[in-house]
Order: sequence, then C-alpha cells, then structure tokens
Amino acid sequence: ARIRHYKWEVKYEYKSPDCFKKLVITINGKSPGPTIFAQEGDTVIVEVTNKLLLKNLAIHWHGIRQIGTPWSDGTEGVTQCPVLPGDTFKYEFKVDRAGTYLYHAHYRMQRESGLYGSIRVSVSDNFTEPFAYDYDRSIILTDWYHKSTYEQATGLSSNPFVWVGEPQSLLIQGKGKFNCSSSSLTADTCNTSNPECSPYAITVIPHRVASLTALSALSFQLEGHNMTLVEADGHYVEPFVVKNLFIYSGETYSVLIKADQDPPRNYWMTTNVVSRPPNTTQGLGFLNYYTNHPRRSPPTVPPTGPIWNDAAPRLAQSRAIKDHHDFIVTPPTTSDRAIVFLNTQNRINGYVRWSVNNVSFTLPHTPYLIALKNKLHHVFSQTPPPEGYDFVNYDIYNVSKNPNATTSNAIYRLGFNTTVDIILQNANTMNVNSSETHPWHLHGHDFWVLGYGDGKFDMNKDPKNYNLVNPIMKNTVPLHPYGWTAIRFKADNPGAWLFHCHIEAHFYMGMGVVFEEGIDKVGKLPSSILGCGETRGVGRP
Ligand code: C2O
Ligand code: CU
Repeated sequence: ARIRHYKWEVKYEYKSPDCFKKLVITINGKSPGPTIFAQEGDTVIVEVTNKLLLKNLAIHWHGIRQIGTPWSDGTEGVTQCPVLPGDTFKYEFKVDRAGTYLYHAHYRMQRESGLYGSIRVSVSDNFTEPFAYDYDRSIILTDWYHKSTYEQATGLSSNPFVWVGEPQSLLIQGKGKFNCSSSSLTADTCNTSNPECSPYAITVIPHRVASLTALSALSFQLEGHNMTLVEADGHYVEPFVVKNLFIYSGETYSVLIKADQDPPRNYWMTTNVVSRPPNTTQGLGFLNYYTNHPRRSPPTVPPTGPIWNDAAPRLAQSRAIKDHHDFIVTPPTTSDRAIVFLNTQNRINGYVRWSVNNVSFTLPHTPYLIALKNKLHHVFSQTPPPEGYDFVNYDIYNVSKNPNATTSNAIYRLGFNTTVDIILQNANTMNVNSSETHPWHLHGHDFWVLGYGDGKFDMNKDPKNYNLVNPIMKNTVPLHPYGWTAIRFKADNPGAWLFHCHIEAHFYMGMGVVFEEGIDKVGKLPSSILGCGETRGVGRP
C-alpha cells in the first residue's frame, strides 16, 4: 500500500462555469477540484490550506468510511472544528475499498459554491472486475446557482422565508451554459462565448457518473446509447440496462457504454431535473467519437428528459439495483433496533424548517466527537430524540394540521456492534399535493437497502418483504415522494456520524440526525480538530 499525498489551496476566484461570472471556491485554481487517485488499501493525506480570507472550511470524503479515523470525516460541528482562514488542516485516512467516491465542502452550505471533486480508488493488482472496458472516465453532475451561498443561507434563515428557488443551470463536470440573453446582464457578467463555459466534451466513454447537486434529482442520458449499470456507491451491481440514469445528490454509479453508433459523429449527453417542476434548462455535454472534433455540436436536437413528476420509473430503478451475485454480503437476518424517521417540512416560530419525527436538527457549538470523547455532556441535549411518530393518526398524504416542530441537537446513541434498521418515511410538505425526493446519506458506514415502498410503512407487514438475499449496499439512498425506504447497518465504526438529507438547503434547515457508537473505542483525538466551542485546551497535554 502507498501513501498518496496532496497539498491543496482553497480560495475564492471569479469563474464563469455557466458563462455567468461569480465567486467560486476553487482547489488549486480548479472547480471541480483535482481527482484523488488511489488504490485499495492506500493511505490518502490531504493538507488543506484555507485561503478563503474570511470564511471557515471543512472537507468531507463522501463514501469513505473513516474506519479508525473518525476525526478525518471532515464534518464541521460533528467531527471537527472548522478550519479557520489562514490555517492548514491535515486529513489522513485509509481508502479500504475500491470504487468511485466524492469529496466536498461540509461547512454550512459551502458545497454548492464549487468545492467538490472525485476520489477514484482502483482495485488491488490481483483482482479482476466483473466487467471489462477500454476507457474509464468520471464525471460529476451538479446544479448551479448564481446567488452566493451566503445570500441563500440568509434567505433560508429569514422570516419571511426566502427559498433558494430552482438552480440557474445544470453543470456536467463543472461546465454548463446559461442563456445570458434571457436576462439584462452585461457582457462582463455573462458572456456566452467565454471558453470557460463551452459544453463539457468527453471522448468516447463516460464510465463513472456521480451527482453532487445542491437540490436537484437528475435524469442522465446519452443520446442513442443505452447504459449498463454495473456499480453503485462502490459496490458491484447485478448488471441491468437503462436509457435514463436517475441519480440523486450524493450517489455514484458506474455505467458501461458501447460506442457502437453509426455514423460516427458526436452525441448529446444531457441532464434533466426530475421530481421538481423543471425551471432549469437541461445540462448539455458532448459524447465525442474519435475523428470528430470534440467541440463539434451534434447535428441533432438534444433528447428531452422524462416526465418530471412520474415517480414510477424512478422507484423502479431504485428497486432494480441489487448486489452482483458474485459479491453478495448478506445482511444480518434480524435487527436489534428499528427507528422510523418521518420526514416533514415544518414551521418553528414562523421560520420554515425540515424535521425528522418533528425534531429539527441544529449543530452544537462544540463538535460531538470531541464532546462525547471528553464527556462534555452539557454542550448538547441529553434527552434522547424520538424513535418514531404517531403512526396511527399522522396523515402522510396531506398538509399536517399542526406543522409545528421543535429544534434539538440531541443524538441517537447506538449499541456498539448492534444491527440497526432505519425506516425513512416521506410525507406531504406544507403545500398541498407536494412530497419531495430526499437523498439520505450516512457517514461512516455502508448500509443494506432492504426495500422501498409506496405510502405509509407498516411495521407488521412490510418487513416481511425486505430483501435479505441480495440487497445492494450504499451510502446514499433516495426517499421517494409519499414513499418509504428501509435500510440496515451495523453500528461497528466507533465515532459520531451524521445521517442527513443531501439536499444542501434541507440539511441546513434541520433535515438530519447524528448517531454515536463505540465512543470509548475511539483513539486519541488529534489536537488539530479542536479550537471551537468548549474544546479549547481539551485533550491537550
Ligand atoms: Cu456528501 Cu454529509 O455529505
Ligand atoms: Cu431533503
């Protein structure tokens, strides 16, 4: 195993990823940032210097479990204090499993300012993958806002509430095209002939597709080509063919594409918003066949996306993803604890929030990992949060009669090495006939996806239909409108771990929880994670 050492400088720069000029957070001058390349078993060291001048920073390694290094998870408020302007922070962790992963900012809503990139962990030398390919490319899909994240965050925390709205464009590997002439912007601010915003051209074969959208659920399409889905979140999938790949923020997929179209020309690569009324023009890129110029526009009109509010094909794709038959890790057949998480939109003292079981999450001033390890029990609420909701009376199909909720920074404490089931239950928002898609992401673990269902989860009936034979393991899973999603995991990774909706504004508005397990088994915390709240001086010699 090798050590992969990276040195990153994070700063604000003016960029025009979709032709509109704004301040973007870059790593070594780039957004998306540099790809981390490593092999299974390697140690990755990233030394990050915060040159944002006035803003704090933290970087999360999405999909890396951080076994034995919970302090390197990069979750501000949970596993570390923020990295202050001018400071350098060293992340060090092992990449213990091959696959495609992501990294992104995890301080407030900073991710959507452009701080993100891919981590590609290759298989060990003597291992053969269950499929073959000639080229291997990765792309990250995002959505893009023209307002700054500070302006957005301020709106979300205001009364009256100012929603972030739909994104201005969709980016493919950091590139998109906003229609500058649709608004009264000057050529200095918005210039469609700026080379920074020409469509992303990929030569021959995109293979790994990941999404880090702030808000949007996407459908990814390649004109004239089907895709065979072979990997999800670092696990091999029993292959199946899709025409649209539905992908939610925080998910990664590997797909195989056969470049077999005739005549050889360039083809459209598109992303379309699904699950929300599409007020964002589709994202465009080129799939380039050799001998054609990579920037030559395809001669056709780009294919249109699927019907935005047809949830059935999305649910069908979610259900079709099963573990590859040669790599099945079967889950424990029973669980020690089952917790139901009702997902609701609420109002607290006039402010709009999102909640789990009517509790809207807030971060304490002292990160949990440090507070727990040093037994600083007064820094967050010790009242255990609720394990469920009023199953009998709560109507998930209508606006709640009482949209009130409370805020809390309490956490779920799990028995070390126990098996835990989480059932995510969707409901109606505060608007009639509206239920959103929430991609839930768990830090520090992979979980088995036991099932998806429509409507209200039935504790007596539905667990009988759990897939215990070949469930896929993932770290991010969608909760579909008016539906439920059941997952199972082993609480075997000592630390404090966030579980949250990966829609940036939703988490910011309280849609998340924290799990603690085996805190007494966590090694000595590095002093670099200290410095905020009541952590000054704690654990120092
Ligand atoms: Cu990719 Cu806590 O997020
Ligand atoms: Cu959400």
